[in-house]
Amino acid sequence: MRMTARTLLLSCLLLFSTCKVNDRLTVPFTEGLIGEKAMVVCAHPEASQVGADILRAGGNAWDAAVAVQFALAVVYQVAGNIGGGGFAVYREAGGQSGALDFREKAPLGSDKDMYLDDEGNPTGRLSLEGHLAVGVPGSVDGMVKLHEKFGSLPWKNLVQPSVDLARKGFALTEQAVSGMNGRQDLFAEVNTHDIVFVKEGDWEAGQVLIQDDLARTFERIRDDGRAGFYAGETAELFLAEMKSSNGIITQADLDAYQSAWRDPLVADYRGHKIISMPPPSSGGVALIQLLKAIESYPVGDWGYGSSRTIQLMTELEKRVYADRATYLGDPDHYQVPTKMLTSSVYLKDRMANVDLKHSTPSQEIKEGSVEIVESVETTHFSIVDEEGNAVSVTTTLNSGYGSKVMVKGAGFFLNNEMDDFSIKAGVPNQFGLVGAAANAIVPEKRMLSSMTPTLVEKEGKLHMVVGTPGGSTIITSVFQTILNVIDHDMTMQQAVNAKRVHHQWLPDLILHEEGAISGQVEESLRKMGHDLQNRGAIGRVDAILVRDDGRLEGAADGRGDDKAVGF
Ligand code: DON
Repeated sequence: MRMTARTLLLSCLLLFSTCKVNDRLTVPFTEGLIGEKAMVVCAHPEASQVGADILRAGGNAWDAAVAVQFALAVVYQVAGNIGGGGFAVYREAGGQSGALDFREKAPLGSDKDMYLDDEGNPTGRLSLEGHLAVGVPGSVDGMVKLHEKFGSLPWKNLVQPSVDLARKGFALTEQAVSGMNGRQDLFAEVNTHDIVFVKEGDWEAGQVLIQDDLARTFERIRDDGRAGFYAGETAELFLAEMKSSNGIITQADLDAYQSAWRDPLVADYRGHKIISMPPPSSGGVALIQLLKAIESYPVGDWGYGSSRTIQLMTELEKRVYADRATYLGDPDHYQVPTKMLTSSVYLKDRMANVDLKHSTPSQEIKEGSVEIVESVETTHFSIVDEEGNAVSVTTTLNSGYGSKVMVKGAGFFLNNEMDDFSIKAGVPNQFGLVGAAANAIVPEKRMLSSMTPTLVEKEGKLHMVVGTPGGSTIITSVFQTILNVIDHDMTMQQAVNAKRVHHQWLPDLILHEEGAISGQVEESLRKMGHDLQNRGAIGRVDAILVRDDGRLEGAADGRGDDKAVGF
């Protein structure tokens, strides 16, 4: 075939554009569940159904949030909880937003050196496993406060589904079974009494799990509200469990626990309004730092998965996580410079030395060295009701099944949230995160979190409800999901499905899911000086998008058993 000047030019253009396309990944078109009116997306189908039933019965988004939080504590015990804590960010249909902090607190008897030996070195896994790892739980108080302020259905109606699920049982999923089987030895080691999760031989998918002790605990919560957990029989069982080993939580801790209403952090991003969780979570601060810092770059043109986009996100993330380690902690105990950290002037200066062609080694940004250990679990759920109220909740026991301690006779697991404190300056926690004075242990202080329940507004209307588990990767997963929708024009489901990457300053490593980085992009990132490491799933985002036609797109993350139920 003769090649004319025109066909030559066309072939060159084609070659050039193919190169560009090859340098980035595309995400197959998919849509989540479309609903006309209301939607619940959470980690377990049974709990999503409970939430949707509450909404159908005329309950509002807060009613559904309470019912889902409790249902997850029955059907998704690995992270759903009453023995842990969390954060809720909400937006009323009229536009008013707010946040509730029901994060656990350090016990009154805690001490900044409680996990160190006489030489000042960390001792074993005391902040991670067993009774000393437990922070004072906040979830039940949080649900009571949400209901007192916003609830429309009777409290009992919101708790009863959990009594029923615990008493009648529910079928275990493949994922649940593999998590339970993998922890049989640890459960048996940490608990001196028999727990329903430990049995002869392996659990099998489809088997029904009945939890009678937990059903009775939920009956007390149903009948007595806050007192059904922090006083009476549940408290007695809780305190007896503490005394049976080296636990330090007392009745005074349970009496003193109060969740706290906080003003959410609000910022603009490309004409959208971001509403997220303030300290003691680092999530909102870090998310806003990342979004504001990336706003001046045309990442939409560069494309999802391109080397330039990944390089820029990585460099910004290193600096943001370095700030987190030094400045972030519980604002009730430490002066957190939130305004400064999220101000455009500060961020311009902070990000001025980002080099788009070369990796800045983390050691040059700040010192430290870490390693990441255990597999972990938290859970997030997103809800929108018929009125247009939205609630975004992330809640956790920290590790999968928390401290692995199940309260004898009460059937619920206790958190190991104490590990989220900086137990010694510069010593990494289970997520490889380091910290210092801002996040040191002080009685009644809340440990720093990465949980990032977030809402996004567009043109003054609700646009997105988003959040995820994933420890330190929570912030970067929420960041990428928002970019995927706003900058990369994805549907909510595509944004959730899209493979994720993560950098947290230390270790100096780009972690990525299989398929998140093409061969060509990997090569160029390595040339820039990055180390890359493939790891399992990053995040498990459950999100809702309010589309331009007003309909809701519920996107459940296929990395888990998560499910959207709406109508
Ligand atoms: O609050 C935090 O940041 C951690 N305790 C969250 C733990 C978590 O996300 C585990 N999940 N996969």
